[in-house]
Amino acid sequence: MPETSVVTLSRHILEEERRHPEASGQFTSVLLEVALAAKIISREVNKAGLVDDIMGSTGEENLHGERVQKLDAYADEVIYKALDHTGTLCCMGSEEHEGLLPIPDRFPKGEYVLLFDPLDGSSNIDVNVSIGTIFSIHRRVSGPEGSDGLLEDCLQPGKNQVAAGYVVYGSSTILVYTSGNGVHGFTLDPSIGEFLLSHPDIRMPDGVGNIYSVNESYYRRWSPGQQRFVSELKTSDPPFTSRYIGSMVADVHRTLLKGGIFMYPPEVRKPGGKLRLLYEAAPMAFLVEQAGGKATDGRRDLLEIEPTSLHQRTPLYVGSRELVDRAAEYLAQDDL
Ligand code: AHG
Ligand code: MN
Ligand code: MN
Repeated sequence: MPETSVVTLSRHILEEERRHPEASGQFTSVLLEVALAAKIISREVNKAGLVDDIMGSTGEENLHGERVQKLDAYADEVIYKALDHTGTLCCMGSEEHEGLLPIPDRFPKGEYVLLFDPLDGSSNIDVNVSIGTIFSIHRRVSGPEGSDGLLEDCLQPGKNQVAAGYVVYGSSTILVYTSGNGVHGFTLDPSIGEFLLSHPDIRMPDGVGNIYSVNESYYRRWSPGQQRFVSELKTSDPPFTSRYIGSMVADVHRTLLKGGIFMYPPEVRKPGGKLRLLYEAAPMAFLVEQAGGKATDGRRDLLEIEPTSLHQRTPLYVGSRELVDRAAEYLAQDDL
């Protein structure tokens, strides 16, 4: 084989696995099947607008009272079906389903748990704005080996994740993942259908960057500390600039590459904010910390939070370390 500079996602994951002689191969298989699902979803996302059965709402609401888009439902099914039979998972959990998703009886059960937000940013589907998929992988904690997974396998703190990642379906499709050894990004080359290493060892830039990202229309619902923090960012010299896509996956991707902070703050009447701890916040926190950044709920390290329910929400502050710390200082004033 000639020497080549092309590193596929499969090669990268296999090389990572070789660093862990105790690894069973199940973990590699989970990541590769997630990547396959991402390629299928990417193909459909690129057809949105052309094909009737892809764009628009299903007419139903999900358990969060949000309109289910056809692509939400499609992506959810693609991921489940790509992994249900592999023998690598003991159960799954999806933002689109209230309870945990069991592995069908006819298939073997494995050592891992997959939690996912099949399509993040669904309100942006109809307007050709970037959307994504977020995933988080834990090792099961229940036994015995080969049995069905339980709720306790899903309800683990973020620090227990063995891998996490996301896919952005944007101007190109990029898959970014960590298995605790740095953060690596792979761009889909549609001509060969492979994810190729394009962003090896992503590190957040030093310093605080110059971008803040938050839905500022909720300003009046924020605590005084949150309001003061954002005002300070605007009036600092030089002032920060503002970017808000409304797809967390894309907003966090930019934050990872360019620095700054992404926030989904608590509101006075919604102390948990909007984002889901297990499907959205914890995987992003793991990635950002692996890239040298930081993630909190405004007070606590996000990865330390012990979940008590599958759809638990949490405020999220994620990005450059110093800036996330500065946000916490302002929020602490609310307690005085
Ligand atoms: P989802 O599409 O999975 O329901 O998530 C949408 C989330 C997240 O992507 C984004 O940051 C946030 O909703 C935007 O909410 P606001 O419209 O309240 O800003
Ligand atoms: Mn989401
Ligand atoms: Mn979603």
